[in-house]
Amino acid sequence: MKVRFQAIRGTRDILPDEVSRWQRLERCARDVFALYGFREIRTPVIEPTALFARSVGESTDIVRKEMYSFDAGEDSITLRPENTAPVVRAFVEHALHRTAATGFPERYYYIGPMFRHERPQKGRQRQFHQVGVEVLGAAEPLADAETLEMVFRFLDGVGIRDRELRLNSVGDEACRGAFRSALVDWLSPRLESLCEDCKRRAAENPLRVFDCKVEADRALLADAPRVLDHLCRECSDHFGAVRSLLDAYRIDYVVDPRMVRGLDYYQRTVFEVVSGGLGSQNAILGGGRYDGLVADLGGPPVPGFGFAAGIERMILLMPESPEDEGALDVLLVTLGHEGWRAAVRMIRSLRAEGVRATMASCERPMGAQLKRADRLGARFALFVGETEIREGRYGLKDLRTGVQETVSEGEVAARVRSVSRGGVR
Ligand code: HAM
Repeated sequence: MKVRFQAIRGTRDILPDEVSRWQRLERCARDVFALYGFREIRTPVIEPTALFARSVGESTDIVRKEMYSFDAGEDSITLRPENTAPVVRAFVEHALHRTAATGFPERYYYIGPMFRHERPQKGRQRQFHQVGVEVLGAAEPLADAETLEMVFRFLDGVGIRDRELRLNSVGDEACRGAFRSALVDWLSPRLESLCEDCKRRAAENPLRVFDCKVEADRALLADAPRVLDHLCRECSDHFGAVRSLLDAYRIDYVVDPRMVRGLDYYQRTVFEVVSGGLGSQNAILGGGRYDGLVADLGGPPVPGFGFAAGIERMILLMPESPEDEGALDVLLVTLGHEGWRAAVRMIRSLRAEGVRATMASCERPMGAQLKRADRLGARFALFVGETEIREGRYGLKDLRTGVQETVSEGEVAARVRSVSRGGVR
């Protein structure tokens, strides 16, 4: 019996036709982040389960319902559902704070797959990809504002214009206590009308009731107390300073006092960028400040700030770009056996000169070869047949403009490279 396998539900193959768009996004991320002094960090895809339980939080949906965890010997291991905790783990493990000088935070970025066992839908997968950054060692509002400015430079760079920044402050340990009691007082008489999950949340970690997706609960919670109204002086000042800086940078935002984000480690600033073009999974990216996390994971009291964007969601929103076209400069179209043999020789020197070239692996009809050139997005077709070889002149057709010229073998590489964006620059 013939067996056929399919990609696991909630995972996707990114096929070569699509991958150039991913590469454009990744290139843009690296270029923009480098402008702000960020360096790449790569951490493992598997981490100790306890790392996420401790940082993201035991009572969050991510940890309770969405993690891919398994036992390996005596250890419980989890496929990372997010990458802030792993980056902080690495920061603490390698004592990276020691190389950081006061006033010069460490700035890291990452690009890679994350795993959450959620119900798949448009813009939501079980294996998805994030591009994110973490700034470790800056408590000042400047770090928040500067990173947000960078977010917008990145979105501009990939051409995503339909976007809205939503901003809130969730306070810190000091003011959250007061808010928690206000919320518990408000929740107590209403508990019976809330879902089972919310009843549990109210007992374990009341702030998490705001993660509830049940419509009736959400409607009720619209009147609940707001963290923003319970900020202590320091948190309020911090929020005010972030807002002034954003105004100075001319970055538009709306304050969304209901937004608490689905992860426990946040303190003070939290934010999301949403887009109308995405449907119900409308968050392109999210992040915030996590000043207690490094210490919580065994490190010194180093403040943190960062964000992560969902690459699949960004890809859905990115307009097409000529840069996404094929990465092939020339396809050698051969005519007759002599032509094919000559092309096998010529293609080697073209490649040696940095020209991205391909040809059929055997003799093929001309129509089929030209079709292939089109399919692969080749910029040029170079015609190699017996007449061309005899005369030492070859037809070189620019497949974008349709213009054909005649060149000598020695001229091909220079001509192709000067026109095709794919040539060596
Ligand atoms: P998050 O909000 O859980 O934050 O995820 C960030 C982004 O990842 C979301 O806005 C969304 O675009 C994308 N995303 C999340 N889940 C899925 C999914 N199932 N399918 C597709 N895309 C998804 C974090 O992960 C934090 N670590 C961000 C951060 C960094 N905070 C501070 N530093």
